[in-house]
Amino acid sequence: MMPRLLRRGGRRGLALAIFMLLDAALPAFAEEAGTAHPELWPKTASPGAFIDAARETKIASLIASMTLEEKVGQTIQADVSAIRPEELRRYPLGALLAGGNSAPGRNTHAEPAAWLALVKAYQDVAMEARAGHVPIPLLFGVDAVHGHSKIVGATVFPHNIGLGAARDPELIRLIGEATAKEVAATGFNWTFAPTLAIPRDIHWGRTYEGYSEEPEIVARYAGPMALGLQGELAAGQSMQAGHILATAKHFLGDGATEGGVDQGDARISEHELIRLHNAGYPPAIESGALSVMASFSSWNGVKHSGNKTLLADVLKGRMGFEGFVVGDWNAHGQLAGCTPTDCPRALNAGVDLFMAPDSWKGLFENTLAAARDGRIPMERLDDAVRRILRAKLVFGASDGFSPLAGQFENLGAAAHRAIARRAVRESLVLLKNNGATLPLRSSAHVIVTGDGADNIGKQSGGWTLNWQGLGNANADFPNGQSIYTGLRAALEAGGGSAELSADGEFRARPDAAFVIFGESPYAEFQGDIDTLEFEAGGGPNLALLRKLKAKGVPVVAIFLSGRPLWTNPHINASDAFVAAWLPGSEGAGVADVLIGDKDGRARHDFRGRLSFSWPSRADRVPGHQSEGNYAPQFAYGYGLSYAQPAELALLSEDPGARREARNLERYFLNGREQAPWRFQLSGAVAQTTIDAGAQENGRRLDWSGDGAFAVTGPVVDLTRQANGDMALVVRYRVEAAAANPVLLSVSCGPQCGGAIDASKLFAPSPKDEWRIERIKLSCFRSAGADLSRIASPFTLTTSGRFSITLTELRLVPDEGHADCPPR
Ligand code: BGC
Ligand code: BGC
Repeated sequence: MMPRLLRRGGRRGLALAIFMLLDAALPAFAEEAGTAHPELWPKTASPGAFIDAARETKIASLIASMTLEEKVGQTIQADVSAIRPEELRRYPLGALLAGGNSAPGRNTHAEPAAWLALVKAYQDVAMEARAGHVPIPLLFGVDAVHGHSKIVGATVFPHNIGLGAARDPELIRLIGEATAKEVAATGFNWTFAPTLAIPRDIHWGRTYEGYSEEPEIVARYAGPMALGLQGELAAGQSMQAGHILATAKHFLGDGATEGGVDQGDARISEHELIRLHNAGYPPAIESGALSVMASFSSWNGVKHSGNKTLLADVLKGRMGFEGFVVGDWNAHGQLAGCTPTDCPRALNAGVDLFMAPDSWKGLFENTLAAARDGRIPMERLDDAVRRILRAKLVFGASDGFSPLAGQFENLGAAAHRAIARRAVRESLVLLKNNGATLPLRSSAHVIVTGDGADNIGKQSGGWTLNWQGLGNANADFPNGQSIYTGLRAALEAGGGSAELSADGEFRARPDAAFVIFGESPYAEFQGDIDTLEFEAGGGPNLALLRKLKAKGVPVVAIFLSGRPLWTNPHINASDAFVAAWLPGSEGAGVADVLIGDKDGRARHDFRGRLSFSWPSRADRVPGHQSEGNYAPQFAYGYGLSYAQPAELALLSEDPGARREARNLERYFLNGREQAPWRFQLSGAVAQTTIDAGAQENGRRLDWSGDGAFAVTGPVVDLTRQANGDMALVVRYRVEAAAANPVLLSVSCGPQCGGAIDASKLFAPSPKDEWRIERIKLSCFRSAGADLSRIASPFTLTTSGRFSITLTELRLVPDEGHADCPPR
């Protein structure tokens, strides 16, 4: 190897050769990519303090009394959207969850009592006295990642990025305690939180789920959050009332992926994995966190759900973790040699509980077969079951319910909302406050404008009521307030007033304008971005800020976002600029800090400091403080306050290289092909633009023989969209029946397959009938498409006469309505 490198010649070749020699002295990263060396990892001080001999004996005797079916069942978790309670009789699963879009009767706005009834329906079957069945309560999980945020009326806390800015571990514990009570009230006994990611690249759509880009805050928060949720655990005792199981996630390096790509690959050394990304795990384990979720992502090409060296040798071995490892949403299906319904490999690598939302049935059968024929060693299966039962027994309740179940007064309780409001206050970061624009005296008259002004949905972000957090109205937060409502209340209390203005116009000349704007809600990979520029090339918000400034009105910008973004033009156009992150339901916390008393004296000072570096350009992350080439606009730790004011000079408005925002999800809308996607016709098909309810919003396609219509663009990877259960939405009207079968495909080239017979779907309908069809992306995968290299997300082919008009083609998160087309 060395001679070849040297032959490549020059200084670079030599440097490379020396590097490789040096590297060979260390554990060999190059040859064993993705292999961890346990001896390099920290030990945890007292990982199993809650282990209790009597309980362990009980667990052993339970295991001895279980059938193989029951043991296998314990290792599988289904989603409520894909299993009926009575199915638990035949398939004795150990756990359930309500995923981002799952809800009782598919109603995400269901009453708390309906949620409790949902959980109870399953627990009752699990606890039935039946012959040959050992009644064991289910673990029932939910993503209570910023409060019990799926439930109407619950307290919605700021997302973690805001909490990181607060730098207040004591507050974190209080939030954990309040969240646990609200979750327990609805019958769940487990949350998939806290996220201990250290997001290093803010292009990542999950940046806001992380407390900080640096390990110190995460290390200080992990313990208090685990303790807040679970309470103190002790040998010989069950979990205290009002607490639930926590999940430290996503193990490991979910925030380290190259380019900030969700579910991507972290190409970093083991040293960096330990120093940065593992920072939160030892304290979480020391505090008793009973579960750890394996990350969807990979480390140097090896997916975590199959990485035995990390799950078994490091986490359970070296770090002494005694809880259980849960997989992520069908993540095991992504391992080589596995599918969502068959994956002994993940269990053998150390996953104890498969998250198999809709794949649980096939997975049960196949895991059972693998346990029977020894592909899963009995010892490993027993260990997985032991860990799961241990968590259940530590939780203690023999029926799976917290004593708080049914005490709905916990949801949105005044005490919890006060904690959330404090969290909002503490999370605000003041980037600019020229001329001491803030605080504003409460006797002032202001206008409040911007699309985030009176919008609790927007200020709450993703993982709120539904997975993406889209479509939430103020009425969906009966206990919350918008930022506008909070400002108005604070001003009216001091004799001032606030006028909500849609467009920045005003009747009476205001003393100041509050412009509240920012990112629209998103979750997971749907939030991945290509450019850090907020509203590339300017946009309505910048125009609004400039318009107000031109009128000589002092402008206060309140920026809502899940990450720092390049906003220099917006900052220049404002007198004061506040990063408010995603504050959640208690919008009034903003006014607590921004509005002073009648004389303009602050009631609360800013204490938020950036836990992420703010970018100075649109085309690259600013680097990190601990590295060289660190070039932020505002550094990690920056934040002005009333006590320590400063004037900010004009910032550069050069974004660097501009890149078009990535669009994987919208193909045809409002009569327009959405860049970079284009329509392509081949063979005997013609297209015309028609009015279909709006001017020129429809595209009519007429076949007169063999032909294809395709949406084409760059080759893209839609695997995550399929794993995330996204569905293709087609809004159409059949104009003339097809003479021959119509094939619909998501295609990756001639040999790649993925076509489904859509003849029934496109059967003629009474004239003028518009139909909307949702087809799960995964249907195309089942039909053979390789979703990792899609050249056309929508192709229609037929070989005779056929006419159809399309008005909409795009991907949407499935709310449980989509299916594969009837054959
Ligand atoms: C996410 C997890 C989440 C799980 C259950 C996954 O897609 O990565 O963070 O806990 O879904 O909703
Ligand atoms: C579910 C989420 C899950 C995601 C996986 C969604 O359909 O509702 O809970 O995290 O898929 O990517």
